[in-house]
Amino acid sequence: MQPAGFDLARYNVRLDSETDFPGWRDAARRLALNEVSPEDISWHVAADSDQPPSDLPAVPGGKQLVVPREFIGHAETAFCHSDPTRFAFLYRLLWRLRTEPRLLAIASDPDTRRLEAMEKAVRRDSHKMRAFVRFRKIGDGDEERYVAWFEPDHFIVERNADFFVRRFTGMRWTILTPHASADWNGERLAIGPGAARSDAPAQDDTESLWRTYFENIFNPARLKVKAMQKEMPKKYWRNLPEASLIPDLIAGADKAATAMIARMPTTPAPHHAKVQAKHWPTREPAVMGDGAHTISELREAAKGCRRCPLWRDATQTVFGEGPDDARVVFVGEQPGDQEDLAGKPFVGPAGKVFDAILDDAGVDRQKVYVTNAVKHFKFEPRGKRRIHSKPNAGEVQACRWWIDRELALIMPDLAVALGATAALSLLGKAIPVTKMRGQVIEREDGLRVFVTIHPSFILRIHEPADKDAERERFLHDMRQVKRLMTA
Ligand code: URA
Repeated sequence: MQPAGFDLARYNVRLDSETDFPGWRDAARRLALNEVSPEDISWHVAADSDQPPSDLPAVPGGKQLVVPREFIGHAETAFCHSDPTRFAFLYRLLWRLRTEPRLLAIASDPDTRRLEAMEKAVRRDSHKMRAFVRFRKIGDGDEERYVAWFEPDHFIVERNADFFVRRFTGMRWTILTPHASADWNGERLAIGPGAARSDAPAQDDTESLWRTYFENIFNPARLKVKAMQKEMPKKYWRNLPEASLIPDLIAGADKAATAMIARMPTTPAPHHAKVQAKHWPTREPAVMGDGAHTISELREAAKGCRRCPLWRDATQTVFGEGPDDARVVFVGEQPGDQEDLAGKPFVGPAGKVFDAILDDAGVDRQKVYVTNAVKHFKFEPRGKRRIHSKPNAGEVQACRWWIDRELALIMPDLAVALGATAALSLLGKAIPVTKMRGQVIEREDGLRVFVTIHPSFILRIHEPADKDAERERFLHDMRQVKRLMTA
């Protein structure tokens, strides 16, 4: 793109690319130190012009360009703006700064205002990229990689690539945009040319997960259509799997908000208090199980556990169940509503899925020990219902006391972490479960931990085909557990 006045310019500066800030900086320094005024320069990008570049003057010996230090940071950000006149604009600012060093602090100056607006636009675009890039999986096994298509307003791919490397270090991925692409092969980041939308895959298995997630976090009572469109402008919708839900969710928001009000907490059902009273008649702190020599002594001691505040609202402790010499211990997250009332792990909807798949895999539940990372039900009251609430790291840590003793008494060959909370409890650190599922990790004490998803994950998938596929994957994992049990 050639600005007006091109023919009159004494210097044609050719930049390697739209994002060649080092090239601009070097040329600007030489030209400013040689007193070349803005109107004598024409800036262009190699790919857009066949105009031969001028030889630029050398830096005059002993001369230094003095500009406020913060200018370079501002200029580097504004340089990513798509405005084709930005190279000349930034040089004009540099030119003025030589004699007006406080220029950037004068908010009313049109150039300062323009610089701020350009930076703001670039930052906003970066924020959108970080929030709205959606990877689609292609290939399986060693060929597995993730590709995303994104259409930024400005030249921000290079600027944001490191963010995606940090966020998705363990994946191999490519982000394609019309201007540039970023490719991470697990070890090295490469910035390449732009691409077409048709180069990116359109759909994959993760789409329905995104949709399920979005449906779940959508709060109809907070719906402000204008604010939502400002935050998630329509131009991004077509690349977001969850966006197809938005029109229906907006249309149904009034009804959903009314239903939500009906779900506001009411007092707990009277029979919950009865169950609680039965299992916890005195509410006195109990002996904490230090002296327990068997699983049943440990279970008895756990009835009085107050290691974290979750005991207050749950009706009872739900301890592990199964033979105390089981070769395999399955660890879930925490008891759910039905488990809390029954006092037994995995008897509710997730338990039913779990049982059926164990059965298909030929694993006899009677022969394995099933327990949870957290032994009390954590929930939020909503109307008459108690809605599962994920235990936090402190609660998991507090409850490790019990799981460590269960494992020490049972001494299994294998522990199976069902989901992220169980993995955190068994391994002492958070791990990416979907990425590491199917792997066996050996702990320092020699216990092998097999990592897989939580069965409730299958329950949350709406699409029948996706649900079946996830069930198959879990069955495959359970068959692997069976092989490890008998190996
Ligand atoms: N989910 C769990 O993690 N554990 C249970 O006991 C039930 C549901």
